[in-house]
Amino acid sequence: MVITLGLRAVETIAPATSANLGAGFDVFGVALDTLSDRVIVERRKDDIIKIEVYGEGSSEIPLEPEKNTAGLVALEMLKRAGEKSGLSIKIYKGIKPGSGLGSSAASAAATAVAMNDLLGLNLTPTQLIEVAAIGEIASAGSPHADNVSAAIMGGFILIVSRDPLEVIKMNLPRNAEFAIVLPEIKVDTRIARLVLPKQVDLTNMVHNIGRAATFIAGIALNSVEIMGKGMIDAVIEPARAHLIPGLNHVKEAALKAGAAGVAISGAGPSIIALVDSSRRDVREVALAMKDAFMEIGIRSRPLCARPGEGARIIRREL
Ligand code: HSE
Repeated sequence: MVITLGLRAVETIAPATSANLGAGFDVFGVALDTLSDRVIVERRKDDIIKIEVYGEGSSEIPLEPEKNTAGLVALEMLKRAGEKSGLSIKIYKGIKPGSGLGSSAASAAATAVAMNDLLGLNLTPTQLIEVAAIGEIASAGSPHADNVSAAIMGGFILIVSRDPLEVIKMNLPRNAEFAIVLPEIKVDTRIARLVLPKQVDLTNMVHNIGRAATFIAGIALNSVEIMGKGMIDAVIEPARAHLIPGLNHVKEAALKAGAAGVAISGAGPSIIALVDSSRRDVREVALAMKDAFMEIGIRSRPLCARPGEGARIIRREL
């Protein structure tokens, strides 16, 4: 007789991500090789789902499964597996919540990958993204899929269609790197989505289609410079600008330091600049943005990143 032992615990890691990249609102996302969240999911003998959160901004994160990103993902995975198992979910936050760097998406992606393995569900990457997007409801109020797609698949992704979900992954030019600055300002993603216009002027729509297409053309032509031209957004960024004091000043500083393009990262407040690392020093751009924030009295953390790997398993226990 063969006895199959199920897994008892799985540990995963998922990267920070930057969404939109200018004109690609809710469509473009890139995984970053800098910050990450780590999640350990373990079966319990009872039927309780216990969530513990440690690290960056952990005190602000609700622990009730129905209000927690990882909790929502775990509940959905149990539903799909038809199981009632209790779980212990430990989340180690390396990405500050409300930073515009896909903090909740990383926890959601790491939990989806861990639960998929723990329950032996064998979900496809697209199915994992669908489940992880449900986790985004806890932080953004709506299940947008740009951050979670990049967090699951790694690299640069674009969302072709939301329903049914279809995602394309593209390799960026080797010299495409990112300078990021994370200011000490809090922007609630829910509010940053509420301030958006419900209707879009046709002129702005034409502008944004042109820019988003230019970004993809830059990738196809292996030109960071052309990608950078595609990072100008006429719709979402103007509506959010008031949430980030000094936004234009910092963007100007990035361009002056040699960035090919610059935009709010996700819903903000982080700002991300695309840099051709074969011609410019990525660190100089990050520091120029930090200095620009400091000039208006806002402290910030500069970061440099390359496109990174997606969520993955780092430990299994029987
Ligand atoms: N595309 C989303 C937004 C990303 O801009 O609201 C949120 O991180």
